[in-house]
Amino acid sequence: MAKHQINQFGTKIGLIAATVGSAVGLGTIWRFPAEVQSGGGAAFLLLYVVCVFLLAIPVMLSEFALGRSTREDAVGAYRKLSPDSKWWMAGGLAVVSSYLIMCFYMVVGGWTLEYLLGAVSGDLFEPFYQGQGAHEMFNGKMQEYVSGGWSPIVNTCMIIIINIGVLVCGVQKGIERMSNIMMPLLYVSLCVIMGYVLCQPGSFGGVEYFFKPDFSKITPGVMVGALGQALFSLSLGMGILITYSSYFPSDTRLTRTSVIVSVMTLVVAVMMGLIIFPAMSAFGMNDANHCVEGTTLVFVTLPEVFMCMEGGRVWAVIFFSLLLLAALTSTVSIAEVSVAFVGRRFKLSRFKSTLLVLLPLLLFSSICAMSFGPLENFKIGGYTIFDGLDTLTNNIMLPVVALLGVIFVGWVAPRKLMRDQLTNNGAFKSVFESAVMFVIRYIAPVVILVILISNIL
Ligand code: PHE
Repeated sequence: MAKHQINQFGTKIGLIAATVGSAVGLGTIWRFPAEVQSGGGAAFLLLYVVCVFLLAIPVMLSEFALGRSTREDAVGAYRKLSPDSKWWMAGGLAVVSSYLIMCFYMVVGGWTLEYLLGAVSGDLFEPFYQGQGAHEMFNGKMQEYVSGGWSPIVNTCMIIIINIGVLVCGVQKGIERMSNIMMPLLYVSLCVIMGYVLCQPGSFGGVEYFFKPDFSKITPGVMVGALGQALFSLSLGMGILITYSSYFPSDTRLTRTSVIVSVMTLVVAVMMGLIIFPAMSAFGMNDANHCVEGTTLVFVTLPEVFMCMEGGRVWAVIFFSLLLLAALTSTVSIAEVSVAFVGRRFKLSRFKSTLLVLLPLLLFSSICAMSFGPLENFKIGGYTIFDGLDTLTNNIMLPVVALLGVIFVGWVAPRKLMRDQLTNNGAFKSVFESAVMFVIRYIAPVVILVILISNIL
């Protein structure tokens, strides 16, 4: 008899907190504003919203259907629905790509911890008082943090250990309980920072920028970017939602849940936009020097903004705490994909499967963390280990997993699967069923293929 117990989320709020917690990660907090900046402000926002509702929600529903109908992990779900085929490999690819993402995402989690500790101790702002220019100093600080000695490795390992601590406690007592505490804190911190920033004189310029569309910046590339961002920010194509939905109770309404999760994620993205752009305009940072591109947004530009704010250190502590919360609720969700798979496949206890999945990461993620320091010059095909994994997973593996998922649900699995899942086996009517099915069968595969091709080219 398997020692691995059957898991389920205990409450509706808990399952929403956990799923939103997975979605709201660095992709939403950090990548979104950067994409907004390169995609014409509100024009990108508008495109993103359209992509979320027309594409991401149906794709999310297809992952929910796979997970909840089978109550299996990503591989088991395909295997159960199509036992004599090779479709389980689609789930296998999800497990592999989520594991690879974990290797480098833990490192970024480690940076957020390092920045938080730096903000708490005041070390983050130290040389500033010695009269150095803020921008150069935070740039230097970031270089020092990511490349320097043991601390990135130690912090990465700390993040992994926190993940182990949460995951061994199980779905309800670990993931759900943590999300129930962390998600409200995250929203409150966001509201506090946003409220403060919007009260600063001069912040309106940023609000205007964020809400005034510049349609001339919309290119095919920006459109593909919005589609990719919609999928990534909702944690699609990673096996996460298949795994989490296998813990949804049978009376959970999937359509409603998918809309709530998407809207709550969207709210975080919009709030981030309403923090960053107004802050940059209030503190005169909207010049070319202060682009929000790449890692610099969170780790260089924002600390600079905090410097200009009264009580900057406190703001930095609040912000990096919220970033850490966001990172943790996401890392836990992505780790759960492998923990669930290993636990069910090898019939291991939760404790053993968690350790089996996460202990090797102490080594793998540490190697990734060294990509910015000792292993900076170790490149495969021109990529450092960190960049290589990031590019491979985001550009290729995620779209492939998402594509296989929609093809499977749209064309291979019986149509009844989606109907039963959307209506909780006929307990109520679903007005969206045909529309959702239409998107899953015809629109999503084409669109995801376009994203994949444009990523490869
Ligand atoms: N939606 C998540 C994010 O925005 C995607 C993700 C989840 C990535 C878990 C990595 C790990 O960051």
